[in-house]
Amino acid sequence: MSFLTPNKDAKAVEEPAGEVATGARLLPRITIQAFCEHTQTAELVESAVHDRRMSKVALTTHNGGLEGAVESYKSNPTPNLIIVETTLPTEEIPASLDRLAEVCDASTRLIVLGHVNDVLLYRELIRSGVSEYLVLPTSAQSIVNAISELFAAEGAAPIGRTIAFVGAKGGAGSSTVAHNVGWAISQHLRQDVLILDMDLAFGTAGLNFNQDPPHGIADAIGAPGKVDPTMLDRLMSKAANHINLLTAPAMLDKTFDFGERDFEQVTELAQKTTPVVVLDLPHTWTAWVRHTLATVDEIVIVAEPDLANLRNAKNLADTVKALRPTESEPLLVVNKLGVPKRPEIAPQEFANSIECRLLGQIPFDAATFGTAANNGQMLAEVAGNNRINDIFRSVGMHVTGRSAPEVTSKGSSIIQSLLKRKKAS
Ligand SMILES: Nc1ncnc2c1ncn2[C@@H]1O[C@H](COP(=O)(O)OP(=O)(O)OP(=O)(O)O)[C@@H](O)[C@H]1O
Ligand SMILES: [Mg+2]
Repeated sequence: MSFLTPNKDAKAVEEPAGEVATGARLLPRITIQAFCEHTQTAELVESAVHDRRMSKVALTTHNGGLEGAVESYKSNPTPNLIIVETTLPTEEIPASLDRLAEVCDASTRLIVLGHVNDVLLYRELIRSGVSEYLVLPTSAQSIVNAISELFAAEGAAPIGRTIAFVGAKGGAGSSTVAHNVGWAISQHLRQDVLILDMDLAFGTAGLNFNQDPPHGIADAIGAPGKVDPTMLDRLMSKAANHINLLTAPAMLDKTFDFGERDFEQVTELAQKTTPVVVLDLPHTWTAWVRHTLATVDEIVIVAEPDLANLRNAKNLADTVKALRPTESEPLLVVNKLGVPKRPEIAPQEFANSIECRLLGQIPFDAATFGTAANNGQMLAEVAGNNRINDIFRSVGMHVTGRSAPEVTSKGSSIIQSLLKRKKAS
């Protein structure tokens, strides 16, 4: 657990942060929220956004310090990084941080800004999972250095979670589910999501988000040499707040025959620069699809409730489990339930047969999905109150490692993670 006050929307402070040496690594597209007690501290944190390394970071600052953060995260999802200022006496800090940990997601990092220069306190906080403790007064540059150390240092763990969606059969709705789940994650977690449309010939991400950018994933895959973050940034298109796309060309002027590892570099880079990466895979079985499935964090199989889908989903699930025996098992979303007069396999029975966890059941709704597709909008935009949006959200929360707050408490996961970190050290 840690506290940081994000501040992208907050008013800028005149004083620029310290200059950064040329070549300093840009921080990835993380979300930072800071909870400060003093106005000067809030201004100091806000001034950090002027540092070039922070150009892609969404930072907001809030009042209330540690207590404000605890209250806020009881009902709101936590960002990638929390910065929190505390004026509590030394002996009270660890207990207060424990209460914050209980409402934080396991993946959230914490930087504490304190007023006590005490090496024992520092050690205790670091041991308990706090990423950094900075003594005030400090400089904006020191704050950015601490953030960079966490998220952009050589060897820092990639921040992105990769989630692949694959259809058990053509047209099962895998892309539609992938895009809507990506949207739900971006809206609910307020974290940046990058959707990679990997169906180069026929992909629909551009259509579904009403975007027709001149560049996209084909430029990234076909680029001579190494793709770097600046290039990836130029190829992405922003479809909405927190939603970025690498669209497919969807042109048939050439064929798309890829080698097993041709997508690896782009996927890895995406993972280093964006907190959530959604891979919209085509319904094909090639070396690169298999390799991608072997390497992502989560796999969601989208299937219609019929026999051909069942057969294919079973083959996919078995193959994926054998490919990655130590990784998370594939998850199942059954889509287009209740097509009039169509006999169907009950979703739970479907899930039992393929031995996958049933993550969502989505009804067939030609009018709503048809309107969304024709408008180039997400379901939440054309039918905000439709309960299918809750399914997209709960799938999104699950695949990003967060239980929906109303289902499970978030506390246990961060505590478990802190315990794991303690054990490891
Ligand atoms: N639950 C649903 N109810 C009604 N229509 C749906 C539903 N889900 C998806 N669709 C529609 O089904 C069609 C196919 O969806 P989509 O393109 O997402 O499938 P896909 O599995 O990605 O197909 P492909 O095999 O081409 O990649 C689209 O027109 C979409 O709007
Ligand atoms: Mg598709």
